Amino acid sequence: MIVCIDGPAGAGKSTVARLLARRLGFRYLDTGAMYRAATLGAQEHGVDWNDPRQVARVVRSLQIDWLGDRILLAGRDVTEQIRLPEITQLVHHVADNPEVRQWMVQLQRRLGRQQHLVTEGRDQGTVVFPQAEVKIFLTASPEERARRRKQQLAAQGIHVSLEKILQEQQQRDRRDSSRAVGPLVPAADAVVVDTSRMTLEEVVDHLERLVRSRMPEGLAGP
Ligand code: DC
Repeated sequence: MIVCIDGPAGAGKSTVARLLARRLGFRYLDTGAMYRAATLGAQEHGVDWNDPRQVARVVRSLQIDWLGDRILLAGRDVTEQIRLPEITQLVHHVADNPEVRQWMVQLQRRLGRQQHLVTEGRDQGTVVFPQAEVKIFLTASPEERARRRKQQLAAQGIHVSLEKILQEQQQRDRRDSSRAVGPLVPAADAVVVDTSRMTLEEVVDHLERLVRSRMPEGLAGP
């Protein structure tokens, strides 16, 4: 069974998806982390960001693996490193690249064939798993998303002003939504959930009920 959670940055997708996966006994897949790891790998190879063909060639040569919730680049744990603001600023070069996206889609589908997934990203319900049993589009107001992002970064010891976060978020939203391939749009059959006024617990409870109501017989889980 595949559960897709798509939506803009800061809507709470990662935390929600991780908790939901745990409750269901499914594997959690953070596809944003895959784009981030690819960005880090390309940067380390010294790619010319203005040359999309080179970016695609280098990215396709990278070895990106999961070890539980840890992401590995050529066997090295880069889970923390890929969250650095520098990577966030560069990631669009990789995420906007159609050849890279094609490769990512294949990688993600392969993982989906191996196990039940709660997968999180921008294009999971629209492009990667159009046949998914459950598609959720998680969103929240821009102010609330920025506030959460600020808190998340502060927990990692990174302090950025709310204004700067809002500005960058707006830029990213625009980029994510206007991308020619795999843009951020709710799938026609997605359930849109606005989390602005919901607690984390309420969101996860709501989604768990939704998933269980669509779960095939014999997959009731823990
Ligand atoms: O969710 P995140 O902030 O870690 O995602 C990092 C970037 O990757 C973000 O700018 C959008 C992009 N992304 C994407 O294009 N498609 C996905 N399925 C996941 C993320």
